[in-house]
Amino acid sequence: MTTYTLRSASPAKTRCEAVVVGVVQGAKGPELADGATDVGKAYGRKLRPLLATLGVTGKTGETVKVPTAGTLGSPLLVLVGLGKVVDATAVRRAAGVAARSVGNAASVGLALPAGSAELVRAVTEGHVLGGYTFTTYKKESKSTAPGEVVVLCEAARRKEVVAAFEEAQVVARAVAVTRDWVNVPPGDLTPPAFADTVAAATRELTRGRGAPKIAIKVHDEQALAEMGCGGILGVGGGSAAPPRLVELSYSPRGAERHLALVGKGITFDSGGLTIKPAQSMGEMKSDMAGAAAVVQATYAIATLGLPIKVSTFVPMAENMVSGSAMRPGDVLTQYGGTTVEIQNTDAEGRLILADALVRATERRPDVLIDVATLTGHMVVALGDRVAGVMGSPDVVDDVLAAAGTAGEEMWPMPIPEAMDERIHSSKIADLSQHDWIRWGGGLYAAAFLREFTGGLPWAHLDIAGPSFNSGGPWGHVTSGGTGVAVGTLVDYARALVA
Ligand code: BES
Ligand code: MN
Ligand code: ZN
Repeated sequence: MTTYTLRSASPAKTRCEAVVVGVVQGAKGPELADGATDVGKAYGRKLRPLLATLGVTGKTGETVKVPTAGTLGSPLLVLVGLGKVVDATAVRRAAGVAARSVGNAASVGLALPAGSAELVRAVTEGHVLGGYTFTTYKKESKSTAPGEVVVLCEAARRKEVVAAFEEAQVVARAVAVTRDWVNVPPGDLTPPAFADTVAAATRELTRGRGAPKIAIKVHDEQALAEMGCGGILGVGGGSAAPPRLVELSYSPRGAERHLALVGKGITFDSGGLTIKPAQSMGEMKSDMAGAAAVVQATYAIATLGLPIKVSTFVPMAENMVSGSAMRPGDVLTQYGGTTVEIQNTDAEGRLILADALVRATERRPDVLIDVATLTGHMVVALGDRVAGVMGSPDVVDDVLAAAGTAGEEMWPMPIPEAMDERIHSSKIADLSQHDWIRWGGGLYAAAFLREFTGGLPWAHLDIAGPSFNSGGPWGHVTSGGTGVAVGTLVDYARALVA
């Protein structure tokens, strides 16, 4: 495993196998970015012609390697493009690109712009996440990760900078494990296996003196039946692997605020009897990304020791086709008694979330946030890099602000009044799960969920787009599970108790 250290050493003199600097796309051509000043000095007047010869532009994603032949303390200089604007987002992405560009160095010095706590955080998170790999299922898993990464920063002794550096590693670890859980094949992460994984991770995290305290309760199918969780049981009924509901509670002494989190944990979404076309089914192991994100955000909040109570609810089910699967036309009774007429077994997420949301309201939290790979409609609306946020306007605003500091792209979406009529259109049940009108399907889903929030301040994050990267890596985002929402939830909790 890579160790990260923070130092104020000179990037020109430091002896690593490679040293990374940023290049800005300036108005008059490429320029070395902040943090690289003494590398620029070491090259002096030779720098401009060198950059020109190499064709360096400073464009986002660009990497150029230069043997330093004695000019610097390190034998290899890596130039990474920051684009035109140097902010935390550009730095986070460039650090991610840098992590993949030097595959075989034992030690790497990062001399990217790091003049503030915010930027040190971006460099650290970006590098950890950009270098993420998932090799569990490879016969040979040779590690290309460096042994040591030194984050170079002139302000390395400032207290808030050190704190940002340490916290960045906690959050990045949580994001990385979220990616692992999403990437595990669905046959190996059935609801019981997922619940066991969370139980084992909770045990591991809370072991020993000084470790954070998190209580866990796993409800199996019998317990769910006794409780009357008809949504989770209905969706899970078609699978040979029974459903689960996992509840975590982090309750530090003296906490004055209480946040409840709910995450969609569909371990595989075939669509059920309303079966998905083959092409849409391929990536449906990622339908538990919201569940993984809320669990890992809870761990990160506890590890950081934030003085906030967090109650986390994770319904887990596999949406499959079989003789015991729920049918269109069935009526399910959600936890708490609301009845729902099923029209489309592929709109399963809202059914498991509804049970968990009602459970969450019983704890009387100050605020309720759910995270779910809920609708393809949100992907059509916002693309595959941006999450949609709906709910109580104040909570939505705060979530968007947290997404900004965490470096995640999120956008507000409305819940139009007309959706209320649509969700209440069932002739035989309290609510209609779906109405076959395509338009605004992601907003219909949010209106449906709102029915189960007990009027509490609430936000719903639809991460169907950004939770899984089907293409190649970009910035700090690697292929497969992305771990989106973990950073935003941690920053939201931070802001609540700031
Ligand atoms: N898990 C899917 C949503 C999804 C789509 C996630 C694409 C990730 C990428 C969800 O359960 C689903 O099937 N939603 C339906 C909703 C519809 C039936 C109202 C959809 O998107 O078509
Ligand atoms: Mn579905
Ligand atoms: Zn789904």
